[in-house]
Amino acid sequence: SAGEGGSASAAPLLQASPPARSFQLDYEENCFRKDGVPFRYISGSIHYARVPRPAWRDRLLKMYMSGLSAVQVYVPWNYHEPLPGIYDFAGDRDIEAFLDLTAELGLLVILRPGPYICAEWEMGGLPAWLLWKPDIVLRSSDPTYLAAVDSWLHVLLPKIKPRLYQHGGNIISVQVENEYGSYYACDYEYLRHLLGSFRALLGSEVLLFTTDSTRLEELRCGYPYRGGGGRGGEGMGVPAPSCSNLPSITSTGSNVTEAFGAQRWAEPRGPLVNSEYYTGWLDYWGEAHASTRSGLLARGLEEMLQLGANVNMYMFHGGTTFGYWSGADFKDQYKPVTTSYDYDAPLSEAGDSTKKLFAIRTVISKVSACPEGWAALAWHCPAALSPSLSLQYANLLDVLDVLCPSEPIQSQFPLTFEAIKQAHGFVVYRTQLPRDVLDPATLGAPPHSVCDRGYVMLQQEYQGTLERDGQTTLHVTGKAGDTLDVLLENMGRISFGANTSDFKGLLGNLSLDSSLLSNWLIYPLAIDTVIQQGWPHAALPKSSSRGREGPAFYTGTFETPGIAWDTFVKFPGWSKGQLWINGFNLGRYWPRRGPQQTLFVPGSVLHVGRPNNITVLELEGAPPTPLLLFLDQPLFNRTLSRSTAATE
Ligand SMILES: *[C@@H]1O[C@H](CO)[C@@H](O)[C@H](O)[C@H]1NC(C)=O
Ligand SMILES: *[C@@H]1O[C@H](CO)[C@@H](O)[C@H](O)[C@H]1NC(C)=O
Ligand SMILES: *[C@@H]1O[C@H](CO)[C@@H](O)[C@H](O)[C@H]1NC(C)=O
Ligand SMILES: *[C@@H]1O[C@H](CO)[C@@H](O)[C@H](O)[C@H]1NC(C)=O
Ligand SMILES: *[C@@H]1O[C@H](CO)[C@@H](O)[C@H](O)[C@H]1NC(C)=O
Repeated sequence: SAGEGGSASAAPLLQASPPARSFQLDYEENCFRKDGVPFRYISGSIHYARVPRPAWRDRLLKMYMSGLSAVQVYVPWNYHEPLPGIYDFAGDRDIEAFLDLTAELGLLVILRPGPYICAEWEMGGLPAWLLWKPDIVLRSSDPTYLAAVDSWLHVLLPKIKPRLYQHGGNIISVQVENEYGSYYACDYEYLRHLLGSFRALLGSEVLLFTTDSTRLEELRCGYPYRGGGGRGGEGMGVPAPSCSNLPSITSTGSNVTEAFGAQRWAEPRGPLVNSEYYTGWLDYWGEAHASTRSGLLARGLEEMLQLGANVNMYMFHGGTTFGYWSGADFKDQYKPVTTSYDYDAPLSEAGDSTKKLFAIRTVISKVSACPEGWAALAWHCPAALSPSLSLQYANLLDVLDVLCPSEPIQSQFPLTFEAIKQAHGFVVYRTQLPRDVLDPATLGAPPHSVCDRGYVMLQQEYQGTLERDGQTTLHVTGKAGDTLDVLLENMGRISFGANTSDFKGLLGNLSLDSSLLSNWLIYPLAIDTVIQQGWPHAALPKSSSRGREGPAFYTGTFETPGIAWDTFVKFPGWSKGQLWINGFNLGRYWPRRGPQQTLFVPGSVLHVGRPNNITVLELEGAPPTPLLLFLDQPLFNRTLSRSTAATE
């Protein structure tokens, strides 16, 4: 594997003979050295948290077969530490089992343990419980934040250390923080602290790096080491600890020279590294589906490889953001990211090879030998199913006692999710109309205080939806003492943008005309817990009302004959909600807004030969005859025709 291509191939060995297993920087020859020999990686990103565990091997094998020498992996802190000091590394969260598989398949690993990762993941990977202290300054040297980071790193990094290349493992480098230069705080003290913790827990030989966009002002805060005689001068005043810190960049394929020029500005010598070469892009609810042409992507890759650069393709396989894990961006307004993280990546959401993958493999095969075994790339999984399915109805408010088994919290004014320690999902806020309202009155919330959507019911009748950056008033009539319920939905905390302290729930007081509503009962809903325990199949609730608008559960069972194929569920005529099959939360659906019209169902969540339980929480209104379709491919509105053109 020594020095395939690039300027590094003719380089002499280092003067001093390196240790038997080493992975180092060579500032003279501008390359990496693996066991002393010039080395360049071609890598792809995969997020184990977005791929069900039974599919890990398939995806990693396909990445290996595509000619990649490495995979780049994020660790989402909040996925592993749901409550302070409570850790979860079981099942889909077994990062060590995932890393074992990469090693078994002969892939190297570039690890990005954060603590902040962005990744369009809920709160950029930071745990929501950090916000239990409302004035915490995230991603800074705030002592409360640093203490939480340090406890986490003391749990995570000892699992990583024995897997470092130097110690016989396959992890060649470890990223510190993520795109810190685009965060407003620019707190060098914080980066210095992280650097110290990483070195203390991983050893001094580990190769650490940072990743930033090519904008110079971002590299300035993101890579303040300025080693090797860099320009700047206002860095953190710490010389780059010898030969082991490296900046890297993120870019599209449009101008490779310019992109690496930015890396050279931050660090004039060392290997060229593009840590995020974008194969596609993410989708936001309510915007067009993103797609990127293969030709442009392949050309950019070829140019970078000809320069001898190291490239990681982000994403190589995007997968799915199941459950409530999808994050949001903030650009002028709150922009939640879709459940599908297909990313228009070379391996599709369901793990199928695309034309883009074959275009990339052709480029890679020009500089290194790709493994034999094409057949592995051709496997195709998704299938259309036509199970018979009849769905039972239960109004959400009728089952409040099941969903919130403890007493509701009483509070004069609304409390945030964080104040009542509810990280994700849904909370009901209930009060009574203080007076008769015979002429329509305005029920209103202060701007941007409904985080993120509020479904309003009066005497159980759905009135409409309030939105964070949209409609904040409704007209209502009723009598004194009528019950007013607002079901608040968290659509994912901001993962990227100016501020990440993104509180959820009712952040302000609701008012009726100009008088404040008070005396609330607040019901934190444990929907996932009760569904995992078999509800509502075990004890189907009785609900007289049918086909009404507003939040309701629709539940049933269906059989899958033969093989549990991967499939895509379509929601014809449904509005917005959440889907579970056999207790597994498949994520948010929102066909009314799009562009995503289907949800991916991995075959591994389905049962063969016994009934599958399906639970839909529809928030705004199901069609008169509620049915679901199981398709063999995903649908995005505006792109059905385009997806054929886009793979060109
Ligand atoms: C790429 O950027 C460099 C440096 O900014 C510039 O000189 C060059 O003309 C650009 N190339 C293209 C094809 O735009
Ligand atoms: C997708 O289709 C729905 C239903 O036709 C429409 O309301 C929505 O605006 C569309 N979204 C996009 C992003 O095109
Ligand atoms: C971000 O935080 C700053 C400082 O706390 C505050 O002034 C600003 O309003 C916040 N911006 C947003 C978009 O919330
Ligand atoms: C609601 O109004 C009360 C009284 O003015 C105030 O003390 C409280 O902070 C407000 N609550 C919120 C969440 O804005
Ligand atoms: C499915 O529903 C049955 C009752 O019909 C229940 O006994 C079982 O626990 C449920 N299974 C899951 C995985 O939810």
